[in-house]
Amino acid sequence: MKYDFNNIVNRKNTKSIKWDLADESVLPMWVADMDFEVPDAVREAIINRAEHAVYGYTKIDNGYFESIINWWKRRYNYLLKKEWIRYSPGVVPAIHMLIRALTEPGDKVVIQTPVYHPFFSAIKNNSCELVENPLKFENGRYTMDLLDLQSRLKDPKVKVMILCSPHNPVGRVWTKDELTRLGELCIENNVIVIADEIHCDLVYKEYVHIPFTSISEEFAENAILCNAPSKTFNIAGIQASSVVIKNDTLRRKFDQMLQSIGGLSPNIFAIEATVAAYNHGEQWLDELLDYLKGNLDLLTEFISENIPQMKVIKPEGTYLVWVDCRELGLSAGELNSFFLKEAKVWFNEGKIFGSGGDGFMRINIACPRSIIEEGLWRIYKSYNTLHENNF
Ligand SMILES: Cc1ncc(COP(=O)(O)O)c(C=O)c1O
Repeated sequence: MKYDFNNIVNRKNTKSIKWDLADESVLPMWVADMDFEVPDAVREAIINRAEHAVYGYTKIDNGYFESIINWWKRRYNYLLKKEWIRYSPGVVPAIHMLIRALTEPGDKVVIQTPVYHPFFSAIKNNSCELVENPLKFENGRYTMDLLDLQSRLKDPKVKVMILCSPHNPVGRVWTKDELTRLGELCIENNVIVIADEIHCDLVYKEYVHIPFTSISEEFAENAILCNAPSKTFNIAGIQASSVVIKNDTLRRKFDQMLQSIGGLSPNIFAIEATVAAYNHGEQWLDELLDYLKGNLDLLTEFISENIPQMKVIKPEGTYLVWVDCRELGLSAGELNSFFLKEAKVWFNEGKIFGSGGDGFMRINIACPRSIIEEGLWRIYKSYNTLHENNF
């Protein structure tokens, strides 16, 4: 192992949303960034560029596109073309722009709840109506309800579907069969798919991420891939992502949208960090995935042995763990205050992810193992108090 993920980096007073919004006594395990230092190559690239000390307007060069293209070729055996790729500071603004470019006010957009909450605002902020295709939850595992999807897509007002792959917060890495059926249904009903694949590199060993647009030419023509190095390499504060659009008409619509907001001039550090991460970050990522699996195993075993009223939903990908807390018998408000005020750990409340989220919590395990241990210990102590009083 070259990297030491056990190393604790003090993130307090670094303008970190995760740490600086939290009360001093609270352990923050919520928003989706990691408490790990980035790969050496990323740090060096940023320092080198910073030392140049002139930070003028920035041109995206071939090296940027090549780093993205080579990453997808190496990791997914999927060939992208430079002409299809657009820079965006983030996937969330990209999804906002895409919805605006691809819909008229009053159109409908499908999402699979419970799901990443900014999808809701991307739809509402662009005067569209949200259509939920709730995931099915059976025997501790989530699957797509494809029959329900089929009926919802029949509504001619539905123009777009946002696919979260892998899925945040339930952690599913969708199978080729699931993605294929979803893609066929969207094509049959003239619904464009926005595939948010920001978590695609964070997949546990037994599972394989399949890029939605790689499944067939028809899917590639009917879908848009949104991706970023930010989750993979812990550079969310640097603001780099890409939007990949093969279909000329859809790409033109997105370009017109970019033009209408005056274009997006890239951040020089975003370009440097992206290139360094994709070209030199692979070993770091492989070691990270092993470390995250260790964290996940610890969390899962500890909870199942000591807090049986909480059930970990086994994630297939992402460092976000979805936990069913309904057997604790607390209302949504009580549950949040149990974790935040009693146990003093900050998780994301399930209800923010929409229907099906009540009674669940999302735990971010991308932190040194000692922080996981501390968090578990805090929950355990408060759980025992709750247990003595209630059960
Ligand atoms: C599914 C999903 N999409 C997008 C984002 C954020 O994207 P960005 O920071 O590039 O806007 C997140 C962050 O948690 C996410 O989980």
